[in-house]
Amino acid sequence: MRSLIDISDFTRTEIDDMMKVAADIIENPAKYSEKCKGKKIATLFFEPSTRTRLSFEAAMYELGGNVLSVPGEALSSAAKGESIADTVRVISSYADIIAMRSPKEGAAFVAAMNANVPIINAGDGGHCHPTQTLADLFTIYREKGGFDDLTVGFCGDLKYGRTVHSLITALSRYKNVKIVLISPEELKLPNYMKIGVMEKTGMRYKETGDLEKALPELDILYMTRIQQERFEDRAEYERLKDAYILTEEKMKAAKKDACVLHPLPRVNEISVKVDADPRACYFKQVENGKYMRMALILKLLKEAENPVKENLFAGKEIIEGATGCENPRCVSRTEQELKKLFKVVDKEADVCRCVYCEKRKRF
Ligand code: CP
Repeated sequence: MRSLIDISDFTRTEIDDMMKVAADIIENPAKYSEKCKGKKIATLFFEPSTRTRLSFEAAMYELGGNVLSVPGEALSSAAKGESIADTVRVISSYADIIAMRSPKEGAAFVAAMNANVPIINAGDGGHCHPTQTLADLFTIYREKGGFDDLTVGFCGDLKYGRTVHSLITALSRYKNVKIVLISPEELKLPNYMKIGVMEKTGMRYKETGDLEKALPELDILYMTRIQQERFEDRAEYERLKDAYILTEEKMKAAKKDACVLHPLPRVNEISVKVDADPRACYFKQVENGKYMRMALILKLLKEAENPVKENLFAGKEIIEGATGCENPRCVSRTEQELKKLFKVVDKEADVCRCVYCEKRKRF
């Protein structure tokens, strides 16, 4: 039995296979309409969502299955202080698979440690959002025919934008992908992504604050919302919220065959006038997400036929820390009696990463 916590949990081949299944679902929906008959998905969302929750639910209905929904922390026993571990152990008795979103970074990892059914990470704080990445990859594949040699620009909130972190991780496995990081100084991509993913894999990248200058070289422009809910300082959000607005005028500088993506929801960062541009692919991305989530549900339910749980720590040197993770949003700060576990990243330099939220720490 497997879960999807981080996009790196799946190999490139597995993702390619899922894209083939998603494409087949589009061509032959009737072939899949009873594949999950008698199965239930629980959607456990402790943060707002429109696309992810409803696309999981639509995906399960279109596969002939059923849905149990927890629409918000306030309406669940988490509001009474129930831990994530207990919550998913309980839901495992009712559902065959759980898609969950939490503001706590590492929440899906803790859920996978404790559930008796597959867990799908539908977003954990500012950490990652692997099923959005499946939607993004499938859209790029359908629009561009592949990933090698693409120049991909990420614009906006690269610090808190978990979809950015997951997509860069996925693209780092393809050949000669060049990344252009476009953000204000305060919202730059975290070092754990630059050092731990891009530099480690030899991915070429550059950083700039200037969207207009970067636009002409981009094959893909991935716009993001400034993540209001992650700011501790409201004044800083107000100052940065309109840092980038993509307009029809700016699109004149983009390549004729460029592709504009956005995980949505959008606030101000793309003018609605851009929606009519054939290069605007963000609503196609939404639809593609449902098909990839159908392929994902099929894959994880198939793998759950083997009840032996995968070892979430396989291949990693794990140590228990005397002190805990420094990330205030880490699930380990609130989950009861959770061991303070760290993956050894660089033994010589004494660098580790929290197993739950991946924040680096020196020992
Ligand atoms: N892209 C995305 O995660 O959208 P929702 O927050 O609406 O689920």
